[in-house]
Amino acid sequence: MTDRNDEGGGVAADIGFDALDPALRYKLLVGVVVPRPIAFVTTLGADGQVNAAPFSFFNVFSEEPPLVVLGLQSKPDNSPKDTTANIRRSGEFVVNLVDEDLAEAMNLCAVDFPPEVSELAEAGLTTAPCTDIAVPRIAEAPVSLECRQEMMIAFGPHRDLLIGQVVRLHARAGIIDPVSYRTNMQAYRPVGRLAGSQYSRQSDVFSMVRENLDEWQARQGARPPARSP
Ligand SMILES: Cc1cc2nc3c(=O)[nH]c(=O)nc-3n(C[C@H](O)[C@H](O)[C@H](O)COP(=O)(O)O)c2cc1C
Repeated sequence: MTDRNDEGGGVAADIGFDALDPALRYKLLVGVVVPRPIAFVTTLGADGQVNAAPFSFFNVFSEEPPLVVLGLQSKPDNSPKDTTANIRRSGEFVVNLVDEDLAEAMNLCAVDFPPEVSELAEAGLTTAPCTDIAVPRIAEAPVSLECRQEMMIAFGPHRDLLIGQVVRLHARAGIIDPVSYRTNMQAYRPVGRLAGSQYSRQSDVFSMVRENLDEWQARQGARPPARSP
């Protein structure tokens, strides 16, 4: 931390990552890359039990092919999380998205329960079958994406980047318009993850129409274009 920011009275940050402790890198990255969507992932254990855990190192990557990406870390004892082990074995998982009603149950499923305990049962959640994969989805989720593992890339012994292909989407009635395919945010009410224990609602949405060059030029009228500095 170096420069003083005279306008805000605080301290501007200029922080090199090479020599920075990983715990501080984590703190910085999860504090500034916000809000992050939450993938509430269901997988099947070797014994057929459904496992559920939230992941906010998560996003959509592309639509052709339709890919999602997740960052899976090891458990504190350095063994793979149950989600990671289950996807490695079966190659299938469901990304259940999280709305305001599901948030508390999602948080409960992040508790490191012993393998014989069903997180979903503890959280009072139920499952519904998927169509293309054997893993069930969370019935109470507003939206669920059936996914097949595309690849899992290890970054060192304790971090895996999972790339999954979306094969089917389920959404509760009222969320996706069947004609326009638009999402109704008031019906969806997704939550985002901020730093630490903070979460956000998307209840202050605003719109900005993206102009093409002709529209932008027409709006400029006779004004000369600004020059690059
Ligand atoms: C909102 C939220 C987001 C999380 N994001 C991640 C993540 O991106 N990567 C990760 O490895 N763990 C993440 N966790 C922790 C896992 O959910 C937690 O370790 C869970 O117990 C793993 O369960 P499993 O062993 O059944 O897979 C997150 C927890 C919460 C509450």
